[in-house]
Amino acid sequence: MEQGFCIWLTGLSGSGKTTIAQELVKRLENSRFIEVMDGDEIRKGLSRDLGFSKEDRNEHNRRVIFCSKLLARSGVIVIVALISPYRETRAYAKEQIQNTIEVFVKAPLEVCIERDPKGLYKKALAGEIKNFTGIDDPYEEPLNPDVVVETDKQDVNESVNTILFKIHANGLLSDEAYESMTK
Ligand code: ADX
Repeated sequence: MEQGFCIWLTGLSGSGKTTIAQELVKRLENSRFIEVMDGDEIRKGLSRDLGFSKEDRNEHNRRVIFCSKLLARSGVIVIVALISPYRETRAYAKEQIQNTIEVFVKAPLEVCIERDPKGLYKKALAGEIKNFTGIDDPYEEPLNPDVVVETDKQDVNESVNTILFKIHANGLLSDEAYESMTK
């Protein structure tokens, strides 16, 4: 059986994690089983009892880490898209889940505020939502991520190509599979 692995996308709300996750699925789906763990989706189910305090975010992230560990261990490709603002929690993910590639989905805060796809920055800036990441809650940038993609400078295909290159370089995708999915 080929090895399972995890692509852990971390970054601000509106940085492009979900868009990259969706494009990664399109590229990888013919190769084997694949699961996406997207923050907004998981918060409607598995983590629906949790909010945005440090404790709740960490508990939510820990649940995702637990599931991802089991999936990756069974050969699945797991794509995680969570703000995951705390370095310590991301380090725990790398320790727990086999073959985890930490991807910093980087976009300046001003760009995320400009994009504001869900209108949440507007509310946070108006003080209607508290503890919003980047506004009045911390985001600890990765110090040594495996991959950095800059979504204000690269298009989604370039970002995805950079990620796939790294996965292949780490021996987690065969040459044949890699070639078939690179555009
Ligand atoms: S995490 O910090 O706990 O890892 P997660 O990725 O699951 O975050 O959820 C973030 C999403 O929740 C955001 O994209 C946004 O849609 C929504 N959200 C609602 N309130 C907040 C908040 N206070 N801070 C950040 N995101 C929030």
